[in-house]
Amino acid sequence: MAQAIGVDIGGTGIKAGIVDLEHGTLSSDRVRVPTPKGASPDDVLTAVKEVLDTLGVAESTLPLGVAFPAIVKYGKTLSAANVSPDWIGFEAEAFFEKGLGREIHFVNDADAAGVAEARHGAARDARGLTIVATLGTGIGSAFLYNGVLVPNTELGHLLYDGTSVEDASIEKWTAYSAMEREQLSWEEWSARLQVFFAHVEFLFSPDLFVVGGGVSKHPEKFLPLLDLNTPIVAAVHRNSAGIIGAASLAAD
Ligand code: BGC
Repeated sequence: MAQAIGVDIGGTGIKAGIVDLEHGTLSSDRVRVPTPKGASPDDVLTAVKEVLDTLGVAESTLPLGVAFPAIVKYGKTLSAANVSPDWIGFEAEAFFEKGLGREIHFVNDADAAGVAEARHGAARDARGLTIVATLGTGIGSAFLYNGVLVPNTELGHLLYDGTSVEDASIEKWTAYSAMEREQLSWEEWSARLQVFFAHVEFLFSPDLFVVGGGVSKHPEKFLPLLDLNTPIVAAVHRNSAGIIGAASLAAD
């Protein structure tokens, strides 16, 4: 069985698993540790080593994909919304490769989730433009055109009150973490999601929306409350999509 390892570094948790590449499913347990407070590069590297150790793959030669919640361009992280500012302009891929003593494939977390859904999930065989939005600590996005990823779209940083990107990114108001932090009802939160998805729909005229992140295991609570012209479905891989997509890209 062709396999690869995926690590998904998020604002809240760092998750890893071994992926069956043919079926796009986990062939191991999913291992998780909390993201270290402040999420500095050194602390995140230590946590990644820990999850790989726990998974028993620290010395493995299987391809390894690492997904990270920032803009990733040529191995460099260019933003840091829910992690330490030390990642801005940082040679992150080279840093992990040195620290882990092996090659990796490094990718934005939502892009990894998008690839998982396109290859093995809710957007399989989808034509035209699919927009995957992951609703978690922040909002991540992936654009797939006829299954091909257009990376680093960052829709979570659309502005919702017209001021600076840092203060007014729509993810602060609409991510799943906002619902938890502000103790919103499903109806209140869905009204915010409606603003987000209706705006994105108007801007890009997609053919399909896929909603990922942990909250996609309760699609019945919020998807029926949205009023859009574009079909909108829950991700198949939910919280494992980042792991599966990163592993899948590493094996390409
Ligand atoms: C980051 C994105 C990331 C998303 C989900 C946002 O704050 O800017 O790069 O994909 O959170 O983790």
